Amino acid sequence: MTTIPSLGYSIEIGDLLQGSLSKLLSEEFSTRKKVIICDENTHENCVPYLTTSIDELANAEIIVLPAGEENKILEICAQVWEALSEYKIQRNDIILNVGGGMITDLGGFVASIYKRGVDYMNIPTSLLAMVDASAGGKTGVDLGVYKNQLGLFSTPRLVVCDNIFLGTLPDEELLWGKAEMLKHGLIQSKEHWLNLKTKPVKDITIEDIAVSVAIKNEIVKADFKEENVRKGLNFGHTIGHALEGFFLEQDKKAHGHCVAWGIVAESLLAAKFGTLPMEEFKEIFAHIQSEYPQIKLEPDNLTHLIELMKHDKKNNSKRINFTTISTIGVSHIDQAFSEKQIQEVLQELFIAH
Ligand SMILES: NC(=O)c1ccc[n+]([C@@H]2O[C@H](COP(=O)([O-])OP(=O)(O)OC[C@H]3O[C@@H](n4cnc5c(N)ncnc54)[C@H](O)[C@@H]3O)[C@@H](O)[C@H]2O)c1
Repeated sequence: MTTIPSLGYSIEIGDLLQGSLSKLLSEEFSTRKKVIICDENTHENCVPYLTTSIDELANAEIIVLPAGEENKILEICAQVWEALSEYKIQRNDIILNVGGGMITDLGGFVASIYKRGVDYMNIPTSLLAMVDASAGGKTGVDLGVYKNQLGLFSTPRLVVCDNIFLGTLPDEELLWGKAEMLKHGLIQSKEHWLNLKTKPVKDITIEDIAVSVAIKNEIVKADFKEENVRKGLNFGHTIGHALEGFFLEQDKKAHGHCVAWGIVAESLLAAKFGTLPMEEFKEIFAHIQSEYPQIKLEPDNLTHLIELMKHDKKNNSKRINFTTISTIGVSHIDQAFSEKQIQEVLQELFIAH
């Protein structure tokens, strides 16, 4: 078990039965109600393991949500708040979010708002949630096609990443999670990038997960409210979120899939109009192209995508802000590019020639 201290809570990585979950529940919440929030898939594949192997959770209330990003919305939160109220959940009870990033984002938000804040723990069950969404304190939901527009910073009591849950995760979901790990390498650690680049997604180890978590955690600790260095974690996400929002309206695409191609697009911006050597862009492009299905757009989609980027929370006034890299492992925040430059890159990568 690796324990990584964060801002007032720990991130445990390894066998959850060996960590502090059970002890915390029995010592601090023994007489308190426990509520598990999950989606239909994690209800089937992950919750039974918890309720049968941790005595304190045997009688937990369980709230099951429909799976999928389209359900990370305020209307679903309202249903959860109604259910918490029906179960008479009080401020000193505890909520356990058991799922991917959709559940940890929404569940953290729900807990932080309900009665002005109930304690919550995250038990991420997708690779993406383990290495990224579950720790760091960003909670929230989408507003229409605009990602994560409603939310708040709020920290969990505990995060436990146990790769036992990855056994039932579909292969493509592993791939989407790996995109965030590649990002950690590209912005901070060439060694991590090189290690992951040669590793099929099935071979990703708990130690690789711990490396990603540690990279993210150091950045979050330095800048919790994302006023400066934390923006580095948004590499690939200005274009990635715009793609994800765009495809939410039609042929839905996963967050990690859009981030993978967002990384390529933002690397190309950095290579054409910044200082990233073109050879390094080619290395990034070749790797992502070899693992991630190509994303295709029509010429008249580009203006819409730029509009979506203008809603990105990293922007100030009229600039569209990016995090870029100058070489693999070194990132730079607050880099603005013109709409013309962004269009040129989108055209080159996503429009069939
Ligand atoms: N808060 C943050 O810092 C942060 C960071 C990155 C991403 N995110 C958010 O995370 C979300 C994406 O997360 P995600 O990719 O985990 O999506 P997700 O939660 O929708 O999970 C993907 C799919 O995998 C299923 N699943 C999860 N665990 C499973 C398991 N163990 N076995 C079988 N099926 C399982 C889910 O039911 C779902 O169908 C997005 O909303 C994104 O905005 C948040």
